[in-house]
Amino acid sequence: MTTPERTVLVAGNWKMHGTRAEAVAWAAAAHETAMAGPHEVAVFPPAPWLEAVIAAAGAGSPLGVGGQACHPEPKGAFTGAVSAGMLADLGCRYVLCGHSERRHVFGETDEFVAASLGAALEAGLTPVLCVGETAEERAAGQTEAVLARQLDAGLGAVRSAADPLVVAYEPVWAIGSGNPATPTEAAEAHGFLRARIAANDPERAAAVRILYGGSVKASNIGGFLAVSDVDGALVGGAALDPESFAQIACAEAGAGA
Ligand code: PGA
Repeated sequence: MTTPERTVLVAGNWKMHGTRAEAVAWAAAAHETAMAGPHEVAVFPPAPWLEAVIAAAGAGSPLGVGGQACHPEPKGAFTGAVSAGMLADLGCRYVLCGHSERRHVFGETDEFVAASLGAALEAGLTPVLCVGETAEERAAGQTEAVLARQLDAGLGAVRSAADPLVVAYEPVWAIGSGNPATPTEAAEAHGFLRARIAANDPERAAAVRILYGGSVKASNIGGFLAVSDVDGALVGGAALDPESFAQIACAEAGAGA
């Protein structure tokens, strides 16, 4: 929900999808959406397409572009990894830190995620810290404990009040499952995250954007945006179709709910 302090951000995470030609077409469409729509729009393409996507959006485009992950070290013998400085050098504005697939498929720990977040800040990028519980953790009543642990680790890498930060609440069970959290579940988790940030830094808590992610579609985005602590969305599958992404990125609170 838009507040005076917080602009809604709708971001598309393309994961490992798309040819170069598709990425260029999707970027051009997302640029048009960013130009026309009421919200800030960003995309997270596969690393090999970042340069083409940034070029397709064009100089001065309001479309934000980000990397899907970065390594904590600025350089070194880390085959296959991408540094935050490399992403910044390409013209990226954002980077995802600790997306669920990085944590659960690639084994990134809280410590690694925090270090990558610190590296992102060092490089001048805005980190998008992704947090979220598994189905088992939710069933065991551990949702808040998991969110607290992942949030605290990430916040530990923030150096100053001026450092930019976006948080994304993405319950693991909702990602790619077609089974989104309910707006009520999102409200509980987002409220918990904002209160926890406020305990140490009320100003950051008021300003930080907390995105919801996990099976967001054009038909359910309005319900999420109607939640006062939801400041946008991180969209996976539905971001791969420019038309559905445009509908999501232009949605108003309550629409389609
Ligand atoms: P989904 O993915 O929208 O396909 O559930 C969200 C994400 O992983 O960021």
